[in-house]
Amino acid sequence: MQFLDSYKDLFLEYLLANRFDMAPHNLYEPVDYILGLGGKRIRPLLLLMAADIAGKNAGDALPAAMAVEVFHNFTLLHDDIMDEAPLRRGKATVHEKYDTNTAILSGDVMMISAYRFLEDYKPEIAIKLLKIFNKMAVEVCEGQQLDMDFETREDVAIPEYIDMITYKTSVLLGAAIQMGAIIGGLDDKSANHLYHFGKNIGISFQMQDDMLDTFGEPKVGKQPGGDIIQNKKTYLYLKTLQLVSDSEKEELLGLYKTRPSDTATKVARVREIMKSAHVILHSDEVKSEYKNLAFSHLDALKMTNEQLNQFRSFGDYLLKRNV
Ligand code: IPE
Ligand code: IPE
Ligand code: MG
Ligand code: MG
Ligand code: MG
Repeated sequence: MQFLDSYKDLFLEYLLANRFDMAPHNLYEPVDYILGLGGKRIRPLLLLMAADIAGKNAGDALPAAMAVEVFHNFTLLHDDIMDEAPLRRGKATVHEKYDTNTAILSGDVMMISAYRFLEDYKPEIAIKLLKIFNKMAVEVCEGQQLDMDFETREDVAIPEYIDMITYKTSVLLGAAIQMGAIIGGLDDKSANHLYHFGKNIGISFQMQDDMLDTFGEPKVGKQPGGDIIQNKKTYLYLKTLQLVSDSEKEELLGLYKTRPSDTATKVARVREIMKSAHVILHSDEVKSEYKNLAFSHLDALKMTNEQLNQFRSFGDYLLKRNV
């Protein structure tokens, strides 16, 4: 999106100036590798945009933008171990390219480094940023635990799935935008509305991520059908169980009790059952509900329509994405 280009240029310049090209090489090279693989950079862009709209302060927000992107990429290193994922952004995941110990420790140093980017804010700002960041970071761990617990649970309810994705994914989008707003000098109440905007958009964003995992094109850059292989309890799976005939329901439940070596046959059959249930239409409806909820939080802000439209366009872009 064009209006984001200037934020992206600003961020990439900062990223390049803050490369992890230190010693020991075996610790930091994987950090450089994952951060250099690209990605959409939506969390730093949300943060910079919020800071800019709140107080024309995108430059001041760069270290915090870096903090959220480094934190996000740290979660990916560990997430890819947990999900046994071979591919990330079209390239080998860190634990595949190097090894699991490397992905653990390089991930750890990224998490701590993320905090270091917050060190130089004025104390009254830094404490606010840290509170937002710490709450979010604990919630991400909680969400990741639920995500793994659900792999072997057969009685996951859709509201539990929504809670799980809220924690593992959405709170980071919320925190990023809230941190940007605080750095831009917005009052706490408005920054909190922006948090809820980001959080609810984040729910739709993760639902789109799940859709792309199952039905996306190779350019998504992740192993196609990875969630099916791992028996992930996505909305697509949970809703399909409600929509299909008893015999298909039994079949689907059976397929999710196993981890067959022939993953292709399992993925193809699950996709087929999901398609026959037209579950994507249902998923799109839920995504719209959360998007509307997100947009309703913008109504409480004292901003110009032009400013609000930037948030709205970002929201639209996130949900229409195909990578
Ligand atoms: C991937 O996030 C992990 C999720 C929370 C869905 P992104 O889709 O933002 O990944 P990149 O950073 O653009 O690769
Ligand atoms: C990722 O969820 C959430 C975190 C990394 C915290 P996913 O497991 O769905 O993300 P992808 O699909 O691997 O990017
Ligand atoms: Mg994953
Ligand atoms: Mg995961
Ligand atoms: Mg995913």
